[in-house]
Amino acid sequence: MADYDLAIRGGTVVTAGDSVRADIGIRDGRIVALGDAITGATREVDATDLLVMPGGIDSHVHIEQPSGPGIVMADDFESATRAALAGGNTFVMPFALQERGKSLRAAVEDYKASAEGRCHIDTAFHLIISDPTPQVLGQELPALVKDGYTSFKVFMTYDDLVLSDRELLEVFDVARRERALVMVHCEGYDAIRFMTERLEKAGQTEPYYHGASRPQVVEREAAHRAISHAQLVDVPIMIVHVSGREAMEQVKWAQDRGFKVYGETCTQYITLTEDDMKGLNMDMSGSKYVCSPPPRDEASQDAIWEGIQQGVFQTFSSDHCPFRYEGSDGKQNPKAKTSFRWVPNGIPGVETRLPVFFSEGVSKGRITAEQFVALTSTNHARMYGLYPRKGSIGVGFDADITLWDPTCKRTIHQSDMQHGADYTPWEGFEVTGWPVMVIANGKIAMDDGKILTEPGQGQVVERDISPFAAAP
Ligand code: URP
Ligand code: ZN
Ligand code: ZN
Ligand code: ZN
Repeated sequence: MADYDLAIRGGTVVTAGDSVRADIGIRDGRIVALGDAITGATREVDATDLLVMPGGIDSHVHIEQPSGPGIVMADDFESATRAALAGGNTFVMPFALQERGKSLRAAVEDYKASAEGRCHIDTAFHLIISDPTPQVLGQELPALVKDGYTSFKVFMTYDDLVLSDRELLEVFDVARRERALVMVHCEGYDAIRFMTERLEKAGQTEPYYHGASRPQVVEREAAHRAISHAQLVDVPIMIVHVSGREAMEQVKWAQDRGFKVYGETCTQYITLTEDDMKGLNMDMSGSKYVCSPPPRDEASQDAIWEGIQQGVFQTFSSDHCPFRYEGSDGKQNPKAKTSFRWVPNGIPGVETRLPVFFSEGVSKGRITAEQFVALTSTNHARMYGLYPRKGSIGVGFDADITLWDPTCKRTIHQSDMQHGADYTPWEGFEVTGWPVMVIANGKIAMDDGKILTEPGQGQVVERDISPFAAAP
């Protein structure tokens, strides 16, 4: 009998710590050997001239979330995980969203039922809390954390999701007691409402003005408020999708004072700008780039790189939130033409996150390959209670591995995408570095762009308490 089901030979193994020339032996879905010359495998993959990295983990994706009357997200669990796999990922973390007036536990069961048997790669859910009733805070949340739902997201804006300061404090307090990690969407609700109405009165309603309705100061104020509330309650928080200098400096300010405040940024904030929302001469094509927080300007992109290089950000995610553009006037909402406020917020990005970040980061010399691994895989596993099962290459880890050709030049085109959206914000974007093979739980899942998995091959997995959550 062969010693290994699969051996990856001749590549450079990159982890968050270092890069070494090594072969990898895989058995029963796990890495069981690392060494100089691993032989005796049923199947061998030649990784000469390739980087052998832990599969990407995208800890911020939205799949099959309700998005308003008649508006359906462009991906279901099947297509979203297929797209993620094509883009070099072996794990995604979507959200189970509690709708107001409904039970959080029921939402979790619904999402889990939708995901099971449909996913190409492993997944695990965060929770979104929109209605922190005494029942949710007192019973449902503590029980869900014990069941492995060890992180939740809260919102400081959006009509149907916004929490009051009092509610934020209550959720933070439960997170501290139960040792969950809270992700916070920092944008101030009242300021956005005020700006939106002012812009609409002035007739400034095109998609471009989405950005003007929520400038950086709105994000900075909310970030500072979230940090202050977290300090009051003494709970660690993760500030997600930081878009520019103002919010980045809030996270850094907190970190410099020893507060347990973590940061996430996303592909759109290093590559897109507010001008993309102008579309062709301020037409609805700008809606393709509408997301929140919005892309800013080049100086903001520089600030985000500064934060990445200085370690202010632990995770680099996609915030994949896909809507179709065609057949509608701005991502499916017929009202979108009357004002930017009705354009569904979110862009597709799970498939392009890794190639764009590798190219802009590693290939352009802004970060090392080790930093890339930390920001796109290892730190996601560590932050969200998946480590040391996922997120690195070592004996005992699940064999979730992506082989990268660091010299391959490609141009991103919608026609090559697996995702369900009908456009990519990175159309025509040129990258150097491409994921050429993905191994998920020890099986070759993607080979040169071909998807070799069946829906259901990925499992919905339980997570441990985050080591970054409150101390016991
Ligand atoms: O515009 C965005 N980012 N939509 C997704 C929801 C969120 O706030 O992350
Ligand atoms: Zn958000
Ligand atoms: Zn999001
Ligand atoms: Zn094209």
